[in-house]
Amino acid sequence: MTNQLPPGPSEGKLKTMRRMMDDYIGFFHWLHDNYGDMVYFEAPTSRHCAVFNADVVEELLVEKTDVLKVLHPRTSFEVMQAPCLARMPAGEEQGRLKDLLRSAFTPERTGALKQVAADEANRLAGGLEEGTVDFRERLERFTFNALTMSIIGGGRELGPEAALPTLKAVKLNFILFAMPGYSLLRKLPLPHDMKARKAIRALDEVTYASIAAARSSDTNGTSLISHLVQATERGDSDWSFGDDSEIRDEAYGMIFGALDGPVHALTHAPFHLNWNPEVRERLEAEVTQVVGDRPLAGDDLDRLPYTHAVCKELLRLHPPAPLLVPREAVEDTTLGGYFIPKGTLVDLAIHVMHRRSDYWEDHEAFRPDRWLTGSQECPRNGFIPFSIKPKECGGGDLATAIIVSALAALAQRWRMEPESDEFPPSGLDAGAFSGAVPATARIA
Ligand code: HEM
Repeated sequence: MTNQLPPGPSEGKLKTMRRMMDDYIGFFHWLHDNYGDMVYFEAPTSRHCAVFNADVVEELLVEKTDVLKVLHPRTSFEVMQAPCLARMPAGEEQGRLKDLLRSAFTPERTGALKQVAADEANRLAGGLEEGTVDFRERLERFTFNALTMSIIGGGRELGPEAALPTLKAVKLNFILFAMPGYSLLRKLPLPHDMKARKAIRALDEVTYASIAAARSSDTNGTSLISHLVQATERGDSDWSFGDDSEIRDEAYGMIFGALDGPVHALTHAPFHLNWNPEVRERLEAEVTQVVGDRPLAGDDLDRLPYTHAVCKELLRLHPPAPLLVPREAVEDTTLGGYFIPKGTLVDLAIHVMHRRSDYWEDHEAFRPDRWLTGSQECPRNGFIPFSIKPKECGGGDLATAIIVSALAALAQRWRMEPESDEFPPSGLDAGAFSGAVPATARIA
């Protein structure tokens, strides 16, 4: 085994950490610009290998899953107890649970979920009036509604307030995890955890009621939870749940894992559409031609190729999981020909890969057209917003339906003009932003 570490900064660990905290994503671009395709660096309590190269993706995500393991701080999903899909390491057990989720996406249920996304998008567009709104907050409500209606089959009346304290606690715990004294800190009754536990009770009630309803029904429900209940009770799956809290945790793994993604992608959309009027006009023209004046329907989504291209371009430039989930080397190993010591966290920086000038023509430009040419311009695995098997996103199609629905329903009636000329600052609110993103709605 080689003992050569990847190249990297030789500055002090504290300086590196400060650099990283000043501009998290910018830091990874800086590493790539200065040290190349694989970079080793150390922070005060952790050591890292950042990967920017599509050629290494399979070795990292497919071939070495037994030594490079997905890292989920135990307490990051404190409201959940079961080893749900989102937290389980890749392996035989995870494969069976993932098969159960995959089998939910029959053509019939996929059609019904698209209709849910379209209905919620019509509500989003219908709820706007001319004037300034907090666009991020509207997207947060829309995404919460689309997710809870798809996953639990209810809960819209609760609003995102039922989920946001938990989402915030998950993120805060991730940050705390990286700090010295973490295990001591976790023993204290931290306010964000207590708030999360209190807020989640209302969603719990809806979720357990939905599980009970699925169990007592003879007909297949459209929600993902009803599939989890019915397929396991009928014995159609190799998976069985211990009790209802495990089914609840599975649903929450999806909701909390998914809430940020569509909000993140969609909040960036009006910026790009304003800066690129020709893109906006093409988007509006496609929607007018396919949908006209009637409400958007689920089966319209497959007939909107340009809208799908806009969605892909948003996910290229603004991948909601910019480093995927870090992998931890559980023993000394190698990656891309370099030595990776035990305990190293491997960060696959897809935000950098999605913008490499040698992978993409006009790499910083918002050009949905690039997705319509029929041949992907970047190398294999150079575009992976949903990761790849075996730990790929379980809800990529649903996420796409949610984003495409919102783009189409808004383009049908509205032009959103952001107040600021710059992308919103990042933070712990939904979509990984900080605070409001004011935008003015004008009739298209
Ligand atoms: C734009 C929206 C979304 C993005 C960008 C996204 C991205 C991702 C990524 C990158 C991972 C894997 C992380 C890794 O390999 O390190 C993941 C995992 C997962 N996602 Fe998503 N996701 C989105 C929405 C959704 C939705 C709507 C659902 C559910 C219906 C969902 C369910 C899951 C599940 C269950 C996993 C865990 C899979 C596993 O560990 O095997 N995601 N997601």
